[in-house]
Amino acid sequence: MSDLPTGPRTQPIELGVLVSGRGTNLQAIIDAIAQGELRAEVALVICNHPEAEAIDRAQKAGIAVELCKREDFPSRLAHQRAIAGKFAEAKVDLVVCAGWDRVLSPEVVQEFAGRIINIHPSLLPSFGGRLHAIEDALNYGVKITGCTVHFVTDEIDSGPIISQAAVLITAEETPETLAKKIHEQEHRLLVEAIKLYSEGRLYIDGQLVKRTTIA
Ligand code: GRF
Repeated sequence: MSDLPTGPRTQPIELGVLVSGRGTNLQAIIDAIAQGELRAEVALVICNHPEAEAIDRAQKAGIAVELCKREDFPSRLAHQRAIAGKFAEAKVDLVVCAGWDRVLSPEVVQEFAGRIINIHPSLLPSFGGRLHAIEDALNYGVKITGCTVHFVTDEIDSGPIISQAAVLITAEETPETLAKKIHEQEHRLLVEAIKLYSEGRLYIDGQLVKRTTIA
């Protein structure tokens, strides 16, 4: 996959956000936009679980949100094609997986090649492809973990890395204290990555993500 820097935009970037749970990363995006820190609009939030707190967060912010449950579609691909269609219809520039618990099909990744990013709660490539990467890192006994924002490719949690933040694991760490530390870093890192993308400052060169300096 390769991509050229897009350069500064005249219009705010349109985001499509995929969520499955609490939506604290979505909230960080909403807050950054409200505070003028991020020049973007959330065009559409898609959630796959009806009870997810993320839905309330989107609604409270007055953002269009659609529930798209896997079980309402005959196949995984049909489900994801429907999601891709909704994002295309909403003219989304960038898809953000902000706590999305399903692996995206190659067809969907292809359609948005170089325009999908994901936040993962570990320092990839360690603890990639896992739903419980925070607990897994703690149980493994690593002393440093963190989070990663990366472009999404066909291979799970293996796409070009945009940015990472490290978190120290102390002797007293519990899954709860570690999750709190990682989430704080995630919120900062995800907003920063979207900002860099929206400013046209990221481009993909093979497995590497390079940054242009501000013009
Ligand atoms: C985050 O830890 C993210 O890295 C992982 O799922 C969690 C989502 O948290 N993929 P939230 O829904 O944004 O609060």
